[in-house]
Amino acid sequence: MQLIEKVTEMQEESISLRKKGEKIGLVATMGYLHDGHLSLMRKAREACTMVITSIFVNPLQFGPNEDLDRYPRDLKRDFELAKKLDIDYIFNPDPGEMYDRDFNTSVSVKSINKIMCGKYRPIHFDGVCTAVLKLLNIIQPHVSYFGEKDYQQLVIIKKMVRDLNVPVDIVGCPVVREKDGLAMSSRNKYLSPVERKDATVLYMCLKSAAESIKNGQKNLEKIKEQIKETFFRTPSIEDVDYFRGLEPVKSRIEYFISQQQN
Ligand code: PAJ
Repeated sequence: MQLIEKVTEMQEESISLRKKGEKIGLVATMGYLHDGHLSLMRKAREACTMVITSIFVNPLQFGPNEDLDRYPRDLKRDFELAKKLDIDYIFNPDPGEMYDRDFNTSVSVKSINKIMCGKYRPIHFDGVCTAVLKLLNIIQPHVSYFGEKDYQQLVIIKKMVRDLNVPVDIVGCPVVREKDGLAMSSRNKYLSPVERKDATVLYMCLKSAAESIKNGQKNLEKIKEQIKETFFRTPSIEDVDYFRGLEPVKSRIEYFISQQQN
């Protein structure tokens, strides 16, 4: 496994891999790897002859009061995990290497940015897309893997790649959960033991909403009420930003795509 920290070195290496006919798979991460990340890396390993994992805590996607400074990091452990999965390259640039002091251009996401997480994190998806587009241009993968855990991110990246004609396949991968149902996330480290225990309410609510829909409940407001009750019975949950089904987002992206094809 080779570690590359410089943009030009990574780009030259990728161009030469492509010339040799290698199929390049990229798994973009912010590090502090867990089984969710590893599932993407395994998928890439199965389908590609060269797998590159980027580890870059992207400052552009953190708001001013968010957790950039305390975002968990453990590069040594990340390298060991990647090595075990037979990853070919780790790309680990410094923020200054990715963004010059006079960096002046960024991706701007329009309407799907205004709902769900985007509503509460106004600069987040512009920052994600700017970093991901740079990684796609530097690494030039044939396929890039993203988790359905961050479903809005996946949809926005798929749309960016279509809109900007980036020659890469974006593949979505299923959510990997802890045994008790909590989606794995590097940020779960922030939870106190009580919060960690209470966090399983998220999965329980999703499951019970799915169950209600399966049993014929069509009134989303009723389902929301039922969910709210369960949420607020959980002591460490003070507030809920949003709760909504995937269908509106799915149909929105399908709508965008159909508009483009017409
Ligand atoms: P990060 O949170 O490190 O996640 C990297 C990739 O792993 C993303 O595609 C994410 O959806 C996926 N992932 C994380 N937890 C997962 C889980 N439990 N199951 C399945 N997949 C999971 O997402 C980012 O980094 C950044 O925004 C990035 C795309 C790297 C741009 O900076």
